[in-house]
Amino acid sequence: MRSRLVVGNWKMQGTVPVIEKLATDLAVAELPSDGEVAVCPGFLHFSLAQRILANSSIVLGAQDCAPEPGLGALTGEVSAEQLLEMGCRYVLIGHSERRTILGETEKTIAQKFKCALSRGLTPILCVGESLEQRNEGLTLSVIKAQVMDVLEEVGIASFGAAVIAYEPVWAIGTGLTATAEQAQEVHAEIRHLLQGRNESIAERIQIIYGGSVKPSNALRLFSMADIDGALVGGASMNAQEFIEICSIL
Ligand code: 13P
Repeated sequence: MRSRLVVGNWKMQGTVPVIEKLATDLAVAELPSDGEVAVCPGFLHFSLAQRILANSSIVLGAQDCAPEPGLGALTGEVSAEQLLEMGCRYVLIGHSERRTILGETEKTIAQKFKCALSRGLTPILCVGESLEQRNEGLTLSVIKAQVMDVLEEVGIASFGAAVIAYEPVWAIGTGLTATAEQAQEVHAEIRHLLQGRNESIAERIQIIYGGSVKPSNALRLFSMADIDGALVGGASMNAQEFIEICSIL
């Protein structure tokens, strides 16, 4: 039985007072003990969130990391080593906003995935198809390619210490959610793909869903066999909604 995971991605949202209030509300919330809850603040708000959440069960994730693991001359970047020092456990890799808006390539994504692992962070590899790709019937082949591009680079063993997030691009921030059945189909396909390389890793890996997850649709999504939790954007900026989603875990 896989454990459940809900991750809040705060993206480039919030000012200091907003983040302070959000983290304070989360720190005192009652959260389920049989799953894990993580939040990913922006780098500037990382230590603020860390301090406020220090005595809670909520763990920290980053939204990105540098393609170099250690310290060095790389202007504007934050490395896995620096994140580890800040008490970070997870790091999102290859979020669709970084792929599409910032032009992050598969090669960079694989490199970042490796860097996170090399410092003991858990990479959350984000994959997802665009609306055009879905309408053209390309969903499964796009997802497979995104997973395989990293897998071929890092090897299947690395997926033993990773999480995969399926986030259809057309469902992110749009209010459109993939139906539980649509999401389950993709999650099952990802697991099947990994099964071909290593049965035990495929069985153990957490595959979480992201894209307009709300308290109103979380139960249905979480009831699917291969959906092991959620990566929540907008609703994670609202403490009450986020706590409600976590309580459904
Ligand atoms: P929304 O929940 O706002 O759709 O965002 C999903 C997401 O991109 C999480 O990483």
